[in-house]
This record gives sequence, C-alpha cells and structure tokens, in this order.
Amino acid sequence: MSEKKIIISPSILSADFANLERDIKLVEKCGADWIHVDVMDGHFVPNITIGVPVVKSLKKITKLPLDVHLMIENPDKYVEPFAKSGADILTFHYEAVKDCDVSALIRKIKSFGVKSGISIKPKTKPDVLMPYLDEVDMVLVMTVEPGFGGQKFMQDCAQKIEFIKNNSSENLIIQVDGGINAQTGKICVDYGANSLVAGSYIYGAPDVNKAIESLRL
Ligand code: DX5
Ligand code: ZN
Repeated sequence: MSEKKIIISPSILSADFANLERDIKLVEKCGADWIHVDVMDGHFVPNITIGVPVVKSLKKITKLPLDVHLMIENPDKYVEPFAKSGADILTFHYEAVKDCDVSALIRKIKSFGVKSGISIKPKTKPDVLMPYLDEVDMVLVMTVEPGFGGQKFMQDCAQKIEFIKNNSSENLIIQVDGGINAQTGKICVDYGANSLVAGSYIYGAPDVNKAIESLRL
C-alpha cells in the first residue's frame, strides 16, 4: 500500500454528456481529486469526443483541476488553445508526436503554467520515455487501447509502471487509465501508480462515493 495519497481522476467519457455539470458535481462531492477529460480526434484514435469549447465551459463549473488527455494527432498545434481554455494538466501521446521535438512540446506546455504529461499506448515500450522522465510532471500508462471506455484492463501494460517508477524521481505522477476498478487499481498502485483514471467503474457504480473510496484502498 502506498503512503502517498492516490489522485483519483474520474473520466467524464462515461458521464452523461447532456448533464456534464451534474455529473462533475457528483464526483466532486464524492471526493474526486481531478476531472479527466478525454479529447479524441477520430484520427489518432477511431473516436471523436470533445474539444476546446467544452473544456472552457467545464472550467467555469468546477474548481477541480482539469486533467486533459489528448488522444489527437499534432498535439503541438492544440497546446495553446487547451491551455488557454483552462486545462491544468495536458497529457499528449508519445506516439502522436511527429513534426516536433518531444522536449520542446513539454516545454511549450509548461510555458503556459500547465502541468505536462506524456502517455504511451499498450504496444509502446516504456524505455522510449527515459529521456523525458525528468522533464514531465506526469506519465500516463494506458492499460487499454485508447479510444473507448469500458474495455478490459491489460495487466501486461501495468507492469510498465514499475519500470517508470524505478527510473524516475519521487515527484513524478504516474497515472494509469483503462479498465480501472478496485481490483485493477490496486494492482497498479502496488506497481507504483499514484493516480488512477476510472470512467465506467465510477459512473456506472450504484454508489459513486463507495466506488471512489474503493480506489483509495
Ligand atoms: C480511453 C480513455 C479513458 C476512458 C477510460 O481511451 O482514455 O480515460 O474513459 O474508461 P474506463 O475507465 O471505462 O476504462
Ligand atoms: Zn483518458
């Protein structure tokens, strides 16, 4: 069991998009630490979700940090609008970076006073992150193929957390996303994760308070 507090970031991908304010207030009241916002462009992943205007509106209705997960091509192009719309953490995918340098992208995110995160998909080895572990604030390990909520947790991917933990400083936030529930969340925390994203587990729960609490055990 980790001594540090686990940052719980409910994914609003599983919320009711017609009632986002209600559903965000619900997890806020139940002790969520951050709000995870999944941005998908239909290119980097085969699904389209939400963009800058929605983030801007969400900023007005919650004090919780907006943890924005960019599953988009050319993340470099969208850092400024998302930062200015109120994102507190901006996480891009290592695999999506083509025309710019990863370190430059990290610096760009930080230049707006936003925390920077880098994420890897299930098939990407954690070694590729080595040059950036001292530069980013957070690493997001995907434990499903990004694109959809409600998929099955891939345990092999969770093992990457251990490698990242062993090669980074204490301050790095190690977040995991995909198929997280009380059991799989515990596996990840035991490997060294200190932030859990959960969508369907939290929003599909009969008792949201209990679901969030169960992720802290
Ligand atoms: C998937 C997204 C996740 C998604 C997780 O591509 O990045 O944040 O909402 O959903 P669950 O927790 O249902 O696997
Ligand atoms: Zn996500």
